[in-house]
Amino acid sequence: MLSLVSEEIEAYSKRHTQAEPEQLQKLMAFTYEQMELPQMLTGRLEGRLLKLLVQLVQPTLIVEVGTFTGYSALSMAEGLPEDGRLITCDNDPDVQKVAQRAFDESPYGNKIELKMGEAIETIQQLDEAIDFSFIDADKVMYTKYYEAILAKTRPGGVILLDNMLQSGHVLSPQDDQARAIHQLNEMISTDNRVENVLLTVRDGVQFVRKRE
Ligand SMILES: C[S@@+](CC[C@H](N)C(=O)[O-])C[C@H]1O[C@@H](n2cnc3c(N)ncnc32)[C@H](O)[C@@H]1O
Repeated sequence: MLSLVSEEIEAYSKRHTQAEPEQLQKLMAFTYEQMELPQMLTGRLEGRLLKLLVQLVQPTLIVEVGTFTGYSALSMAEGLPEDGRLITCDNDPDVQKVAQRAFDESPYGNKIELKMGEAIETIQQLDEAIDFSFIDADKVMYTKYYEAILAKTRPGGVILLDNMLQSGHVLSPQDDQARAIHQLNEMISTDNRVENVLLTVRDGVQFVRKRE
């Protein structure tokens, strides 16, 4: 993933963002040492942003699409109110053990339920109102995730979608992934059901609020 801002600015922003808890620092180090594609992990800037937004929204139910090693799930769980829960899902059995161990070791892990399987099926099976979501799995499936989650999101609820700038490839999409994300950006920005802002944080975060 190409950085959208200069490396110096990215490093400066990280230095001037509060550190994540030690467990998350260790989880990031483990992910970079042991896992394939460690850059999939959101990291300090986006993780702290997720935690702050969760603290502001005070959701009862968060849904995360794409767990990986559990970094973003734990970041959001840290901001949850006492009675808040987070359901996260992934279809890769290789990440299941790592993420579940991280949840078991965390003081916030008891708020997290990890569901294994195809994300779209997991979303379709949910029968509760969703307050806050973070979409970060198969980019070509994002529009389907977005529609399925929006239908279950309460009015005023928040949906965040990651990698919505595709290292800049949305400007001139050359592959299915960049095309799918560009089409979804076009759709969301004219979607009367929601209000949105596309943040240039990391690889682009669509910040969407369902209208009341
Ligand atoms: C970018 S990573 C998630 C990173 C994570 N949110 C974090 O910040 O640490 C994407 C994850 O989505 C999962 N994934 C991809 N396609 C999926 C699908 N069709 N159903 C469920 N999970 C999927 C991958 O296995 C991978 O672990």
